Amino acid sequence: MSSQESTADEVTVQALFEPYQEGNLKLSNRIVMAPMTRGFSPNGVPGPDVADYYRRRAANGVGLIVTEGTLINHPAAAASPNWPNFHGDEALQGWAKVVEAVHSAGGRIIPQLWHVGTTRKIGSLPNPEALPVGPSGIDAATGEQVSEPLSEQEIASLVEAFAQAASDAKRIGFDGIEIHGAHGYLIDQFFWEKTNRRTDRYGGSLAARTLFATEVVKACRQAVGPDFPIVFRFSQWKGADYSAKLVQTPEELEQFLAPLAEAGVDVFHCSTRRFWEPEFEGSDLNLAGWTKKLTGKPTITVGSVGLDVEFTKRDESANTVTLDKLLDRLNRGDFDLVAVGRALLHDPEWAVKIRDGRSDELRPYSQESTKTLY
Ligand SMILES: Cc1cc2nc3c(=O)[nH]c(=O)nc-3n(C[C@H](O)[C@H](O)[C@H](O)COP(=O)(O)O)c2cc1C
Repeated sequence: MSSQESTADEVTVQALFEPYQEGNLKLSNRIVMAPMTRGFSPNGVPGPDVADYYRRRAANGVGLIVTEGTLINHPAAAASPNWPNFHGDEALQGWAKVVEAVHSAGGRIIPQLWHVGTTRKIGSLPNPEALPVGPSGIDAATGEQVSEPLSEQEIASLVEAFAQAASDAKRIGFDGIEIHGAHGYLIDQFFWEKTNRRTDRYGGSLAARTLFATEVVKACRQAVGPDFPIVFRFSQWKGADYSAKLVQTPEELEQFLAPLAEAGVDVFHCSTRRFWEPEFEGSDLNLAGWTKKLTGKPTITVGSVGLDVEFTKRDESANTVTLDKLLDRLNRGDFDLVAVGRALLHDPEWAVKIRDGRSDELRPYSQESTKTLY
């Protein structure tokens, strides 16, 4: 490589390593570790191996870590006893140690707060007796009614469980929270027409279908005060249907986002599987680009950064690719932060290797990647 080429590369890659500040969210660079469920927390408690796993990313140049999905306090929130809880003394003490490890390595970390809704199969551990819950009790994958629609009282207690988790996140030292409103889980089941058939105030129009999420955001905001960062993750795609769309036009996207922004979201995490795909015809802006344009809020993009195979094929290997298309968009200001999933799951040094031009050392994602806490 000539010196001229290497200088040009450094200048562009440098955009990923610019510090970032929005309110109280102060980051050393633009790289975010995407939330990735790992299943290494027996009985819902993250241990020292989980703390080390996150610490390695902080020590190796990741600006912000979003933890794997971590469960709010509700009997049907989880579908595995090895997914981490965000309630109970033992799990919260485990998380406090994760925070300490990440902070001591100079990183920042926020937990992703999660409830799986009706994606949970009947009889799943850790609470086999608890029925899956959702706005209308419909399992999106099968279309079957698996439980009664949530009552207003149950909805209120779920909102309260998210708020309690937010308050605990602040108390044990996290740098903010991310609310998981994406991929067809509980909050997204309220958004999506196919899983929300309610005829009360939580169902019907797109705006009505955002009510549960806005209640969650408002309750979390109230629990943490005005200065604690709240990130909200959403997606068009669902685990049960990768081609699903909540909105078809920029106008609809605006109707969807406005109540969430007003409720207190600071940053939108716009989950797509391929960051370079235009969201709507007539513009090359992706979902994060449109969201920033329509709300004026900072956004995080995500989806196959640095890899050649998209997320749906998560069991497939993926080779590393250059970041040119990403850097063009970041430099243009389409979005503020860039989340990286599988590339970082497999390689804790991904960020520093990119920063230092060591791309020949990047390790491709493989089928084995999810089996180890690298
Ligand atoms: C093993 C694995 C687990 C995941 N778990 C979560 C999760 O808990 N919460 C979430 O919002 N997304 C989850 N995702 C999606 C990722 O956050 C990310 O959006 C997706 O992998 C696309 O990014 P990538 O192409 O860089 O991997 C998961 C992805 C993988 C590969």
